[in-house]
Amino acid sequence: MTGSRTPRNRTPAKRADPVRRAAYQIVRQVNGADGYGNLVLGKVLREERLTGRDAAFCTELVHGTLRWQGTYDDILARCVTRPLADLDADLLDVLRLGTHQLLRMRVGSHAAVSETVTLARAELGQRRTGLVNAVLRKVSQRSLDQWVDAVAPADRIGRLAVANAHPRWVVEAFADALGGDLDEVEQLLAADNEPPRVALVARPGLATTDELRAAAPASTPGEWSPYAVVLDSGDPGAIPAVADGRAGVQDEGSQLVALALAAAPVEGRDERWLDLCAGPGGKSALLAAVGAGRGVTLTAVEPLPHRAELVRENLRAVPGDHRVLVVDGTQPTWEQGGFDRVLADVPCTGLGALRRRPEARWRRTPDDVEALRPLQERLLGSALDSVRPGGVVAYVTCSPHRTETRAVVDAVLGGRDDAELVDARPSMPGVEHLGDGPDVQLWPHRHGTDAMYLALIRRS
Ligand SMILES: C[S@@+](CC[C@H](N)C(=O)[O-])C[C@H]1O[C@@H](n2cnc3c(N)ncnc32)[C@H](O)[C@@H]1O
Repeated sequence: MTGSRTPRNRTPAKRADPVRRAAYQIVRQVNGADGYGNLVLGKVLREERLTGRDAAFCTELVHGTLRWQGTYDDILARCVTRPLADLDADLLDVLRLGTHQLLRMRVGSHAAVSETVTLARAELGQRRTGLVNAVLRKVSQRSLDQWVDAVAPADRIGRLAVANAHPRWVVEAFADALGGDLDEVEQLLAADNEPPRVALVARPGLATTDELRAAAPASTPGEWSPYAVVLDSGDPGAIPAVADGRAGVQDEGSQLVALALAAAPVEGRDERWLDLCAGPGGKSALLAAVGAGRGVTLTAVEPLPHRAELVRENLRAVPGDHRVLVVDGTQPTWEQGGFDRVLADVPCTGLGALRRRPEARWRRTPDDVEALRPLQERLLGSALDSVRPGGVVAYVTCSPHRTETRAVVDAVLGGRDDAELVDARPSMPGVEHLGDGPDVQLWPHRHGTDAMYLALIRRS
């Protein structure tokens, strides 16, 4: 939570606070036009030239409002006489912004209500100010904890969902993946509500962690990956090694799964590697850099041209004759059974990276999980067809939802007799809390990484 902040305008004919107006514009673009919170926030902060405390206040207001909006809607539903669905979307966003200031920011109740009423007057017109004032006064009568007591369902999962601002179906999926341990689920939900620090990767052979730490003194070594540096603050783009592609921004979980594929034992030849779902290319670049020291050539596949371009950019500093193919990974244009190692980092719901994208949890639906599954199975099948006998495939998601992880692996391996799971844990040396294997699930609350899933599969 951000400290209190004095609004810029306190004149009698009060004008809306420009920082709150900026926050409103951002939340509207995200909720009304399917924008991405982080991207819209960055753009509006630049356009409005907001810096320092103003930028910090705007960021906290936007991120918090987007992250908590499902819970705020449950609360607002108790404070509005009509069904929430009948409210205009712009009015609802103003109420959510006010509610966040009242319940989770150190803004005094009076300021939170009056600034939001002034915002409503500026953005929605005088006619709606009465409703905003009345509703926010009701919201201000209880603390967040008291509201959770009032609106949460009685069962533990329902309460965890409301108290930690996650949709119920997501909490159920996390509980399933964590074996039903709801105390641990609670830790995970809390970790999801903390924006992560920026992690960098020093691509081996191109940059070192010492170089990154010298360029970014406010940093610490990564906890797990030997190539990771974690920034306390500062702009990663200002670090020369990042700017010229010798290093990159990459979560430690993503580093670990790529490094695990490179470390897994294979028999015989080890010089042709395939990244089947490569865009934007963070793992391609790490694999290519690791492989460059071992005489490896990487083929990266990405069907979307703009994402394939990002893969090329990510690979630009890595020596070697690497190829980027702009094709569908399920329609191979390459020789079958020709690769020694294959990464299938398949499109998924991203439920393992909710801490990065404040609005994402409310956008995803259980239908998305089902809709992605056939493609995930086809891509894993294609990866297994692409690897030679004795070679290894890494199936990876940035979601811990079992339908996207173990269920896909089981379904694909159940249909063929030329592939078997191998224990992935020895390929992550030094990493703790890896469970019973053979596959591995990383977690924000256990490892401080995104919730990356990894299964290593050997072709026979
Ligand atoms: C989870 S992302 C991969 C992230 C990437 N490995 C990295 O570390 O930067 C999945 C990628 O798969 C791509 N994709 C979607 N459909 C695909 C298909 N049929 N074949 C191959 N890739 C596909 C998406 O465009 C997306 O870029």
